[in-house]
Amino acid sequence: MFTNIKKINSLAIGLLCAGSLYFTQCSSVSEEKEQSANGLHEYYSGYFPIGVAVSPRALEDSAQSALILREFNSMTPENVMKAGPIHPSPNQYNWGPADAVSYYAKENDLKLRGHALVWHQQYPGWFFKDENGDQISKDTLYARMKSHITEVVNRYKDVIYAWDVVNEAVSDNSDFVYRQESPYYQIAGEEYLAKAFEFAHAADPQAKLFYNDYNAARPEKVDRIYTLVKKLKDAGVPIHGVGIQGHWSIFEPSEKDLRYAIDKYASLGLDVQITELDVSIYPWEKERRAMKPGESDEFTNELEEKQLKQYDMFFRVFRDYKETLTGVTFWNISDQYTWLDTYPVEGRKNYPLLFDQELKPKKAYYKVTSFDQ
Ligand code: G3I
Repeated sequence: MFTNIKKINSLAIGLLCAGSLYFTQCSSVSEEKEQSANGLHEYYSGYFPIGVAVSPRALEDSAQSALILREFNSMTPENVMKAGPIHPSPNQYNWGPADAVSYYAKENDLKLRGHALVWHQQYPGWFFKDENGDQISKDTLYARMKSHITEVVNRYKDVIYAWDVVNEAVSDNSDFVYRQESPYYQIAGEEYLAKAFEFAHAADPQAKLFYNDYNAARPEKVDRIYTLVKKLKDAGVPIHGVGIQGHWSIFEPSEKDLRYAIDKYASLGLDVQITELDVSIYPWEKERRAMKPGESDEFTNELEEKQLKQYDMFFRVFRDYKETLTGVTFWNISDQYTWLDTYPVEGRKNYPLLFDQELKPKKAYYKVTSFDQ
Protein backbone atom coordinates (compact mmCIF):
# COMPACT_ATOMS: atom_id res chain seq x y z
CA MET A 1 0.00 0.00 0.00
CA PHE A 2 2.72 2.50 0.98
CA THR A 3 4.67 1.64 -2.16
CA ASN A 4 1.51 2.45 -4.03
CA ILE A 5 1.09 5.82 -2.43
CA LYS A 6 4.74 6.62 -3.04
CA LYS A 7 4.34 5.75 -6.69
CA ILE A 8 1.29 7.95 -7.02
CA ASN A 9 3.07 10.73 -5.16
CA SER A 10 6.14 10.58 -7.42
CA LEU A 11 3.92 10.86 -10.46
CA ALA A 12 2.03 13.63 -8.80
CA ILE A 13 5.15 15.51 -7.91
CA GLY A 14 6.25 15.29 -11.53
CA LEU A 15 2.99 16.89 -12.50
CA LEU A 16 3.13 19.43 -9.73
CA CYS A 17 6.59 20.53 -10.82
CA ALA A 18 5.53 20.71 -14.42
CA GLY A 19 2.71 23.02 -13.50
CA SER A 20 4.71 24.58 -10.62
CA LEU A 21 1.76 23.95 -8.39
CA TYR A 22 3.39 24.11 -5.01
CA PHE A 23 7.02 24.95 -5.35
CA THR A 24 8.34 27.97 -7.10
CA GLN A 25 11.85 26.50 -7.19
CA CYS A 26 10.75 23.04 -8.08
CA SER A 27 13.76 22.03 -10.09
CA SER A 28 16.18 22.76 -7.24
CA VAL A 29 14.20 20.95 -4.55
CA SER A 30 14.80 17.24 -4.17
CA GLU A 31 11.92 14.84 -4.53
CA GLU A 32 12.58 13.54 -1.01
CA LYS A 33 12.24 17.04 0.40
CA GLU A 34 9.01 17.66 -1.45
CA GLN A 35 7.60 14.37 -0.27
CA SER A 36 8.31 15.23 3.33
CA ALA A 37 6.63 18.63 3.05
CA ASN A 38 3.46 18.77 5.13
CA GLY A 39 -0.01 18.51 3.73
CA LEU A 40 -3.03 19.95 5.55
CA HIS A 41 -3.80 16.68 7.31
CA GLU A 42 -0.26 16.48 8.64
CA TYR A 43 -0.44 19.98 10.12
CA TYR A 44 -3.66 18.87 11.79
CA SER A 45 -2.58 15.37 12.77
CA GLY A 46 -2.79 16.23 16.47
CA TYR A 47 -6.26 17.72 15.99
CA PHE A 48 -8.72 16.00 13.65
CA PRO A 49 -8.82 14.35 10.21
CA ILE A 50 -9.11 16.75 7.29
CA GLY A 51 -11.49 15.55 4.60
CA VAL A 52 -12.73 16.55 1.18
CA ALA A 53 -15.87 15.89 -0.87
CA VAL A 54 -15.04 14.15 -4.14
CA SER A 55 -16.47 12.78 -7.34
CA PRO A 56 -15.11 9.64 -9.04
CA ARG A 57 -14.09 11.88 -11.93
CA ALA A 58 -11.84 14.00 -9.72
CA LEU A 59 -10.15 10.85 -8.44
CA GLU A 60 -9.28 9.87 -12.01
CA ASP A 61 -7.64 13.23 -12.65
CA SER A 62 -3.96 12.86 -11.78
CA ALA A 63 -3.43 16.44 -10.59
CA GLN A 64 -6.50 16.42 -8.34
CA SER A 65 -5.70 12.95 -7.08
CA ALA A 66 -2.17 14.06 -6.18
CA LEU A 67 -3.59 17.01 -4.31
CA ILE A 68 -6.02 14.81 -2.38
CA LEU A 69 -3.34 12.32 -1.36
CA ARG A 70 -1.04 15.07 -0.29
CA GLU A 71 -3.45 17.27 1.64
CA PHE A 72 -6.30 15.14 3.00
CA ASN A 73 -6.72 11.97 5.02
CA SER A 74 -10.48 11.62 4.74
CA MET A 75 -13.09 11.81 1.97
CA THR A 76 -16.84 12.09 1.47
CA PRO A 77 -18.53 11.19 -1.83
CA GLU A 78 -20.15 14.45 -2.97
CA ASN A 79 -23.09 12.81 -4.76
CA VAL A 80 -22.66 9.16 -5.69
CA MET A 81 -23.95 7.58 -2.47
CA LYS A 82 -27.12 9.65 -2.32
CA ALA A 83 -30.35 7.70 -2.88
CA GLY A 84 -31.08 9.18 -6.32
CA PRO A 85 -27.76 8.34 -7.96
CA ILE A 86 -27.19 5.01 -6.18
CA HIS A 87 -30.72 3.54 -6.25
CA PRO A 88 -32.32 4.84 -9.46
CA SER A 89 -35.07 2.20 -9.68
CA PRO A 90 -36.57 -0.24 -7.18
CA ASN A 91 -34.43 -3.25 -8.08
CA GLN A 92 -31.41 -1.47 -9.44
CA TYR A 93 -28.42 -0.16 -7.56
CA ASN A 94 -25.83 1.87 -9.41
CA TRP A 95 -22.80 0.75 -7.40
CA GLY A 96 -20.02 1.60 -9.87
CA PRO A 97 -19.31 5.25 -8.96
CA ALA A 98 -19.65 4.66 -5.21
CA ASP A 99 -17.44 1.56 -5.44
CA ALA A 100 -14.79 3.68 -7.18
CA VAL A 101 -14.73 6.16 -4.29
CA SER A 102 -14.63 3.47 -1.62
CA TYR A 103 -11.91 1.54 -3.48
CA TYR A 104 -9.77 4.67 -3.72
CA ALA A 105 -10.22 5.35 -0.01
CA LYS A 106 -9.22 1.80 0.89
CA GLU A 107 -6.24 1.69 -1.47
CA ASN A 108 -4.88 4.97 -0.20
CA ASP A 109 -5.71 4.52 3.46
CA LEU A 110 -8.10 7.47 3.66
CA LYS A 111 -11.01 7.60 6.07
CA LEU A 112 -14.41 7.64 4.39
CA ARG A 113 -17.65 9.33 5.50
CA GLY A 114 -20.88 8.10 3.94
CA HIS A 115 -23.29 10.73 2.57
CA ALA A 116 -26.32 10.68 2.78
CA LEU A 117 -28.94 8.00 3.56
CA VAL A 118 -32.09 10.07 4.08
CA TRP A 119 -32.53 13.43 2.41
CA HIS A 120 -35.47 15.32 0.92
CA GLN A 121 -33.37 16.06 -2.19
CA GLN A 122 -31.62 13.86 -4.74
CA TYR A 123 -33.93 10.92 -4.01
CA PRO A 124 -35.18 8.65 -6.80
CA GLY A 125 -38.60 9.52 -8.19
CA TRP A 126 -40.02 6.05 -7.48
CA PHE A 127 -39.14 6.06 -3.77
CA PHE A 128 -42.29 7.67 -2.41
CA LYS A 129 -44.83 6.41 -4.98
CA ASP A 130 -46.69 3.17 -5.56
CA GLU A 131 -47.28 1.57 -8.96
CA ASN A 132 -50.26 3.92 -9.56
CA GLY A 133 -48.21 6.98 -8.78
CA ASP A 134 -49.94 7.52 -5.43
CA GLN A 135 -48.10 8.31 -2.25
CA ILE A 136 -47.03 5.19 -0.33
CA SER A 137 -48.09 4.34 3.23
CA LYS A 138 -45.89 4.75 6.28
CA ASP A 139 -45.26 0.99 6.44
CA THR A 140 -44.16 0.85 2.83
CA LEU A 141 -41.91 3.85 3.39
CA TYR A 142 -40.23 2.12 6.33
CA ALA A 143 -39.83 -1.10 4.34
CA ARG A 144 -38.17 0.86 1.52
CA MET A 145 -35.98 2.86 3.89
CA LYS A 146 -34.90 -0.31 5.67
CA SER A 147 -34.04 -2.11 2.47
CA HIS A 148 -32.18 0.88 0.98
CA ILE A 149 -30.25 1.71 4.13
CA THR A 150 -29.34 -1.91 4.82
CA GLU A 151 -28.06 -2.52 1.28
CA VAL A 152 -25.99 0.64 1.06
CA VAL A 153 -24.57 0.59 4.59
CA ASN A 154 -23.73 -3.13 4.35
CA ARG A 155 -21.89 -2.74 1.08
CA TYR A 156 -19.46 -0.14 2.43
CA LYS A 157 -19.22 -1.12 6.08
CA ASP A 158 -15.60 -2.28 5.68
CA VAL A 159 -14.48 1.25 4.78
CA ILE A 160 -17.06 3.83 5.89
CA TYR A 161 -16.60 4.82 9.52
CA ALA A 162 -19.40 7.42 9.77
CA TRP A 163 -22.65 8.11 7.93
CA ASP A 164 -24.74 11.22 7.47
CA VAL A 165 -27.92 9.31 8.21
CA VAL A 166 -30.44 12.14 8.06
CA ASN A 167 -29.60 15.30 6.16
CA GLU A 168 -31.31 18.70 6.54
CA ALA A 169 -34.52 17.65 8.30
CA VAL A 170 -34.92 21.02 10.03
CA SER A 171 -37.23 23.55 8.40
CA ASP A 172 -36.09 26.80 6.78
CA ASN A 173 -39.11 28.34 8.49
CA SER A 174 -38.28 29.16 12.10
CA ASP A 175 -41.89 28.47 13.14
CA PHE A 176 -41.24 24.76 12.72
CA VAL A 177 -38.62 22.32 13.88
CA TYR A 178 -39.21 19.74 11.13
CA ARG A 179 -39.09 20.43 7.41
CA GLN A 180 -42.78 20.15 6.57
CA GLU A 181 -42.39 19.64 2.83
CA SER A 182 -40.05 16.64 3.11
CA PRO A 183 -41.77 13.57 1.64
CA TYR A 184 -40.44 11.55 4.58
CA TYR A 185 -42.14 13.94 7.00
CA GLN A 186 -45.35 14.07 5.01
CA ILE A 187 -45.69 10.30 5.03
CA ALA A 188 -44.40 9.44 8.48
CA GLY A 189 -44.10 12.59 10.57
CA GLU A 190 -41.02 13.04 12.75
CA GLU A 191 -40.80 9.33 13.54
CA TYR A 192 -38.91 8.69 10.28
CA LEU A 193 -35.74 10.12 11.80
CA ALA A 194 -35.57 7.53 14.56
CA LYS A 195 -36.29 4.76 12.04
CA ALA A 196 -33.46 5.90 9.79
CA PHE A 197 -30.93 5.79 12.62
CA GLU A 198 -32.23 2.41 13.82
CA PHE A 199 -31.95 0.85 10.36
CA ALA A 200 -28.43 2.25 9.88
CA HIS A 201 -27.31 1.04 13.30
CA ALA A 202 -28.67 -2.45 12.66
CA ALA A 203 -26.79 -2.58 9.35
CA ASP A 204 -23.48 -1.45 10.86
CA PRO A 205 -23.33 -1.24 14.65
CA GLN A 206 -19.76 0.12 14.44
CA ALA A 207 -20.55 3.15 12.28
CA LYS A 208 -20.82 6.60 13.81
CA LEU A 209 -24.21 7.96 12.86
CA PHE A 210 -24.68 11.69 12.24
CA TYR A 211 -27.48 14.18 11.87
CA ASN A 212 -26.18 16.76 9.33
CA ASP A 213 -27.50 20.25 8.50
CA TYR A 214 -26.69 23.67 7.00
CA ASN A 215 -26.90 27.09 8.65
CA ALA A 216 -26.13 25.01 11.71
CA ALA A 217 -24.22 27.83 13.40
CA ARG A 218 -27.04 30.39 13.18
CA PRO A 219 -28.15 30.53 16.83
CA GLU A 220 -31.87 30.31 16.11
CA LYS A 221 -31.40 27.23 13.93
CA VAL A 222 -28.84 25.77 16.35
CA ASP A 223 -31.57 25.72 18.96
CA ARG A 224 -34.00 23.89 16.66
CA ILE A 225 -31.37 21.34 15.59
CA TYR A 226 -30.55 20.86 19.26
CA THR A 227 -34.23 20.22 20.03
CA LEU A 228 -34.49 17.60 17.29
CA VAL A 229 -31.26 15.82 18.21
CA LYS A 230 -31.95 15.91 21.94
CA LYS A 231 -35.31 14.28 21.38
CA LEU A 232 -33.65 11.44 19.49
CA LYS A 233 -30.93 11.07 22.10
CA ASP A 234 -33.40 11.08 24.99
CA ALA A 235 -35.46 8.40 23.23
CA GLY A 236 -32.41 6.15 23.07
CA VAL A 237 -32.05 6.39 19.29
CA PRO A 238 -28.54 5.38 18.10
CA ILE A 239 -27.25 8.81 17.08
CA HIS A 240 -23.59 9.62 17.70
CA GLY A 241 -22.88 12.97 16.15
CA VAL A 242 -23.98 16.28 14.71
CA GLY A 243 -22.59 17.47 11.39
CA ILE A 244 -22.31 21.22 11.06
CA GLN A 245 -22.15 21.50 7.29
CA GLY A 246 -20.17 24.73 7.18
CA HIS A 247 -21.42 26.27 3.94
CA TRP A 248 -20.31 29.63 5.22
CA SER A 249 -19.12 32.92 3.81
CA ILE A 250 -16.94 35.92 4.49
CA PHE A 251 -20.02 37.35 6.27
CA GLU A 252 -20.93 34.55 8.66
CA PRO A 253 -20.80 32.96 11.15
CA SER A 254 -19.19 35.10 13.80
CA GLU A 255 -16.74 33.52 16.23
CA LYS A 256 -19.32 33.85 18.99
CA ASP A 257 -22.01 32.04 16.99
CA LEU A 258 -19.62 29.31 15.91
CA ARG A 259 -18.57 28.64 19.50
CA TYR A 260 -22.20 28.70 20.65
CA ALA A 261 -23.09 26.05 18.05
CA ILE A 262 -20.24 23.67 18.85
CA ASP A 263 -20.81 24.04 22.60
CA LYS A 264 -24.52 23.40 22.28
CA TYR A 265 -24.21 20.21 20.20
CA ALA A 266 -21.32 18.95 22.30
CA SER A 267 -23.41 19.46 25.44
CA LEU A 268 -25.49 16.49 24.25
CA GLY A 269 -22.43 14.28 24.63
CA LEU A 270 -22.20 13.76 20.86
CA ASP A 271 -19.33 13.98 18.40
CA VAL A 272 -19.32 17.16 16.36
CA GLN A 273 -17.88 17.46 12.86
CA ILE A 274 -17.64 20.21 10.29
CA THR A 275 -18.83 18.17 7.32
CA GLU A 276 -19.12 20.48 4.30
CA LEU A 277 -16.81 23.43 4.69
CA ASP A 278 -16.52 26.22 2.14
CA VAL A 279 -16.30 29.98 2.52
CA SER A 280 -18.29 31.77 -0.15
CA ILE A 281 -17.35 35.30 -1.16
CA TYR A 282 -21.08 36.15 -1.44
CA PRO A 283 -23.81 36.47 1.18
CA TRP A 284 -26.02 33.39 1.73
CA GLU A 285 -28.96 33.06 -0.65
CA LYS A 286 -31.31 30.12 -0.88
CA GLU A 287 -33.38 30.74 -4.01
CA ARG A 288 -31.86 30.17 -7.42
CA ARG A 289 -31.64 33.31 -9.58
CA ALA A 290 -29.89 34.66 -12.67
CA MET A 291 -26.82 36.86 -12.46
CA LYS A 292 -27.81 40.51 -12.20
CA PRO A 293 -26.58 43.02 -14.80
CA GLY A 294 -23.30 44.47 -13.55
CA GLU A 295 -22.90 41.82 -10.86
CA SER A 296 -19.22 41.04 -10.51
CA ASP A 297 -17.69 37.65 -9.78
CA GLU A 298 -14.12 38.84 -9.53
CA PHE A 299 -12.03 37.53 -6.65
CA THR A 300 -10.53 40.85 -5.63
CA ASN A 301 -7.62 41.27 -3.21
CA GLU A 302 -10.06 42.70 -0.70
CA LEU A 303 -12.27 39.60 -0.88
CA GLU A 304 -9.26 37.35 -0.64
CA GLU A 305 -8.17 39.18 2.51
CA LYS A 306 -11.64 38.85 4.06
CA GLN A 307 -11.78 35.18 3.23
CA LEU A 308 -8.33 34.61 4.70
CA LYS A 309 -9.40 36.24 7.96
CA GLN A 310 -12.55 34.14 8.10
CA TYR A 311 -10.64 30.90 7.45
CA ASP A 312 -8.08 31.93 10.05
CA MET A 313 -10.79 32.44 12.66
CA PHE A 314 -12.59 29.20 11.80
CA PHE A 315 -9.48 27.05 12.12
CA ARG A 316 -8.40 28.81 15.32
CA VAL A 317 -11.79 27.93 16.81
CA PHE A 318 -11.62 24.38 15.41
CA ARG A 319 -8.22 23.89 17.05
CA ASP A 320 -9.60 25.13 20.34
CA TYR A 321 -12.24 22.41 20.08
CA LYS A 322 -9.90 19.57 19.17
CA GLU A 323 -11.29 17.46 22.01
CA THR A 324 -14.80 17.82 20.57
CA LEU A 325 -14.39 17.93 16.80
CA THR A 326 -13.76 14.55 15.18
CA GLY A 327 -13.40 15.81 11.64
CA VAL A 328 -13.31 18.83 9.34
CA THR A 329 -14.28 18.15 5.72
CA PHE A 330 -14.13 20.59 2.79
CA TRP A 331 -16.95 20.51 0.25
CA ASN A 332 -14.94 20.12 -3.00
CA ILE A 333 -11.24 20.15 -3.65
CA SER A 334 -10.35 23.50 -5.19
CA ASP A 335 -11.78 26.64 -6.80
CA GLN A 336 -11.39 24.88 -10.16
CA TYR A 337 -14.78 23.28 -9.48
CA THR A 338 -17.20 24.06 -6.70
CA TRP A 339 -20.94 23.39 -6.48
CA LEU A 340 -21.18 27.13 -5.68
CA ASP A 341 -20.32 27.97 -9.32
CA THR A 342 -23.89 27.03 -10.19
CA TYR A 343 -25.74 27.59 -6.93
CA PRO A 344 -27.63 29.74 -6.26
CA VAL A 345 -26.55 31.81 -9.28
CA GLU A 346 -25.81 29.81 -12.42
CA GLY A 347 -22.51 30.89 -13.96
CA ARG A 348 -21.38 33.15 -11.11
CA LYS A 349 -17.89 31.98 -10.23
CA ASN A 350 -17.13 31.42 -6.56
CA TYR A 351 -13.80 30.87 -4.83
CA PRO A 352 -14.63 29.19 -1.55
CA LEU A 353 -11.79 26.70 -0.99
CA LEU A 354 -8.15 26.68 0.09
CA PHE A 355 -6.78 25.82 -3.37
CA ASP A 356 -7.19 28.07 -6.41
CA GLN A 357 -8.31 27.23 -9.94
CA GLU A 358 -4.82 25.93 -10.76
CA LEU A 359 -4.84 23.82 -7.60
CA LYS A 360 -2.26 26.08 -5.96
CA PRO A 361 -2.62 26.81 -2.24
CA LYS A 362 -4.20 30.21 -1.62
CA LYS A 363 -3.03 32.70 0.98
CA ALA A 364 -5.69 31.36 3.31
CA TYR A 365 -4.03 27.92 3.10
CA TYR A 366 -0.78 29.32 4.47
CA LYS A 367 -2.70 31.12 7.19
CA VAL A 368 -4.52 28.03 8.47
CA THR A 369 -1.33 26.01 8.44
CA SER A 370 0.77 28.52 10.41
CA PHE A 371 0.14 27.93 14.06
CA ASP A 372 2.08 26.60 17.04
CA GLN A 373 1.41 22.90 17.07
O1 G3I B 1 -25.42 13.74 -12.75
C1 G3I B 1 -26.15 14.71 -13.54
C2 G3I B 1 -25.66 14.68 -14.93
O2 G3I B 1 -25.95 13.44 -15.50
C3 G3I B 1 -26.34 15.83 -15.71
O3 G3I B 1 -25.82 15.90 -16.99
C4 G3I B 1 -26.11 17.17 -15.00
C5 G3I B 1 -26.84 18.33 -15.68
O4 G3I B 1 -27.19 19.32 -14.78
O5 G3I B 1 -26.59 17.07 -13.70
C6 G3I B 1 -25.91 16.08 -12.96
O6 G3I B 1 -26.43 16.07 -11.67
C7 G3I B 1 -26.04 17.14 -10.84
C8 G3I B 1 -25.29 16.56 -9.64
O7 G3I B 1 -25.03 17.58 -8.71
C9 G3I B 1 -23.97 15.92 -10.04
O8 G3I B 1 -23.11 16.86 -10.59
C10 G3I B 1 -27.30 17.85 -10.37
O9 G3I B 1 -27.92 18.50 -11.46
C11 G3I B 1 -26.97 18.85 -9.28
O10 G3I B 1 -28.17 19.37 -8.74
C12 G3I B 1 -26.22 18.17 -8.19
O11 G3I B 1 -25.89 19.13 -7.22
C13 G3I B 1 -25.45 18.63 -5.99
C14 G3I B 1 -26.39 19.12 -4.88
O12 G3I B 1 -25.91 18.65 -3.63
C15 G3I B 1 -27.78 18.61 -5.09
O13 G3I B 1 -28.64 19.31 -4.27
C16 G3I B 1 -24.04 19.15 -5.72
O14 G3I B 1 -23.14 18.58 -6.67
C17 G3I B 1 -23.60 18.77 -4.31
O15 G3I B 1 -22.40 19.42 -3.99
C18 G3I B 1 -24.66 19.20 -3.31
O16 G3I B 1 -24.27 18.76 -2.05
C19 G3I B 1 -25.10 19.15 -0.95
C20 G3I B 1 -24.96 18.09 0.12
O17 G3I B 1 -25.26 16.82 -0.40
C21 G3I B 1 -25.86 18.41 1.32
N1 G3I B 1 -25.59 19.72 1.83
C22 G3I B 1 -25.64 20.79 0.85
C23 G3I B 1 -24.69 20.49 -0.30
C24 G3I B 1 -24.68 21.61 -1.28
O18 G3I B 1 -25.94 21.77 -1.86
